[in-house]
Formats: sequence, structure tokens, C-alpha cells
Amino acid sequence: MNAIGQLDRSPLQIDSGMLPRPFVVRSRREEMSDCVTLELAALDGEPLAFEAGQFTMLYVHGVGEVAISISGDPAVSDSLIHTIRAVGAVSQALCGLSEGDRVGVRGPLGNSWPLERAVGKHLMIVAGGLGLAPVRPIIYWALANRDRLKSIDIVYGTRAPDQILFAPQLLGLSTTDGLRVGMTVDLADQDWRGQVGVVTDLIPSMLREPAETVAMVCGPEIMMRFTGQALAAAGVPAEEIFLSMERNMKCGIGWCGHCQLGPHLICRDGPVFPYPAVRDLMSVWEL
Ligand SMILES: Cc1cc2nc3c(=O)[nH]c(=O)nc-3n(C[C@H](O)[C@H](O)[C@H](O)COP(=O)(O)OP(=O)(O)OC[C@H]3O[C@@H](n4cnc5c(N)ncnc54)[C@H](O)[C@@H]3O)c2cc1C
Ligand code: FES
Repeated sequence: MNAIGQLDRSPLQIDSGMLPRPFVVRSRREEMSDCVTLELAALDGEPLAFEAGQFTMLYVHGVGEVAISISGDPAVSDSLIHTIRAVGAVSQALCGLSEGDRVGVRGPLGNSWPLERAVGKHLMIVAGGLGLAPVRPIIYWALANRDRLKSIDIVYGTRAPDQILFAPQLLGLSTTDGLRVGMTVDLADQDWRGQVGVVTDLIPSMLREPAETVAMVCGPEIMMRFTGQALAAAGVPAEEIFLSMERNMKCGIGWCGHCQLGPHLICRDGPVFPYPAVRDLMSVWEL
């Protein structure tokens, strides 16, 4: 049964959806002091295809399991890339893993970014802080499909210059034809020559033809709330704005109700939602 009393899956499907597959850490890269990127490979060697926007439940033996977005290239299925910030027991344990350590993986889970909607249009990707990890698969897809898109614009905001995720990659991208990267920080240091302020400050000047734009947004909920408002106010059609939502998850397969957001279960109906579906729910405190 799920939280609203409907049987979605047979008990056998629930069992298989709840069973982690054994993976090994193939490589580990420290992005910043509290954030690492892990490359995981299946112990049985089976590829694991995923779509941009999906997440997995990662299990550390004896500690617990958490939802983490897949941040790698969807065209590559021989390993899984996850970028994780240490905020509590399980994420700290994941960040503390070393090459060769084992981890359990369930998934890929959830829906995906509606990439094909951007074909023939301007694609704007807006990310805040660690929210750049869940949108990175969109960037890989957009680069591979550059000639099918009118333009690609990445708008990224983070706390401080030393908190810029994937900085070398972002800088490398800005030389791509038809692709612009706009970056802003909340707090500059003495070497920062870029923009200071919130991401929404950059949106009006970076939008090319708002009515012809599809926007994909990920970051802290308050940032997504104001970004949705800014994009809509600038003329991007509300139904062409998509947000990736987060809630604490347990089962990840629409069964336990932990990730409920109003009428939605984020693991089953999301994590990607059209802005009109979540616009009013985001302004309800602690919903
Ligand atoms: C679909 C989805 C995708 C995610 N992708 C990523 C990712 O790519 N990288 C990443 O680092 N994290 C991601 N998260 C968040 C990650 O699941 C949480 O940080 C993790 O569950 C925290 O567990 P913990 O045991 O380490 O800490 P806990 O002890 O459970 O929590 C520590 C602190 O973090 C807060 N917290 C816990 N879960 C969340 C959450 N989902 N959102 C906001 N605050 C939370 C708690 O309120 C508490 O203050 C994602 C979550 C979801 C639902
Ligand atoms: S219903 Fe269990 S985590 Fe979504």
C-alpha cells in the first residue's frame, strides 16, 4: 500500500524494488571539504541505464540508506556517478567511503527531466549550490544534442567562490558555441570578479526569447520558489518550467509515504515536477 491507500505493486515487485544491488566504489573525488563525487560500478558487471533526473537509494552497510541523484552522463551506463554532501549520518558515511568499498544501490528511481520538450527551443538550466549535480545529466544531453536546441544557458548561484561545484567543467563549457554560463555568489572574496547576488538577478538578462524557453531548475526549495516566480514573471510559460523536488525518503518506490508533498509522492510522481503542480505547495511552510 502507498500513503494514500492504493496498491501500486505486487508484493514481489515491492521486494525486488527494496533489494539493493552490490556496487563497488571505482573512484572518489573530493569536490570540496564536505562534498565528494563517487563513481560506482556494479559488482556483477551489469550496466545500469538511467535517465537524466533519476536518483538511486544508496545503502551503507550498518548505517542506512539515502536518496542521491545520478549526476553522470546518461549516455554512459557502465558506472554511476553521485555527488554527495555530508549533512548527517548516512551522507557522511558515503562521503567517507574509499576506492574498493562496497555500497548497496536501489534504482534508478523516479521520473526524468522532459528533455525532448527543449528540442527546437532555448534551454535554460538554473541551479543553486549542490543542485548542479542533479542537472549535470541535462548538460551532458544538451551538449550531445546541441544542434537540436536553439541555445543552452546555465545560470548557477552558490554561497561563495570556493563553493562552486564542477568549476573547471563550468569554465570549460563557456567556450561552447551557443552556450552561456552565468554565475553568481552570495558572498564574494577578494579574488572574485563576477556577479554577487542571487540567481534570480541573472535570469532577466540571460533569457533570450522567454516564450520559446524551457527551464529546468534544481536547488534549495526557497531558491526554486523564487526562480519559478522570476522565470514566469519574465514570460517563460509556467508549464515549460520544471523543478526537481526533495523530501526525506525511505522506500523510494511510492510505498511508505515519507516523501509526500501535498497530493504527490516525490519518489513516485517526481522528483521532477512541472512548476504549476508544485507552485502553491512550495509556499506552504513545512509541508
Ligand atoms: C530525489 C533526491 C535527490 C537527492 N540528491 C542528492 C544529491 O545528489 N546529493 C546530495 O548530497 N543529497 C541529495 N539528496 C539529499 C539527501 O538524500 C539527504 O542529504 C540525505 O538523505 C541526508 O541523510 P543523512 O542520514 O546523511 O542526514 P540526516 O540525519 O537524515 O539529515 C541531516 C540534515 O539534513 C536534512 N535533510 C535530510 N534529508 C534532506 C533532504 N532530502 N532535503 C533537504 N534536507 C534534508 C535534515 O533535516 C537534517 O537537518 C537528495 C534527496 C532526494 C529526495
Ligand atoms: S513513498 Fe516511500 S519514499 Fe516515497
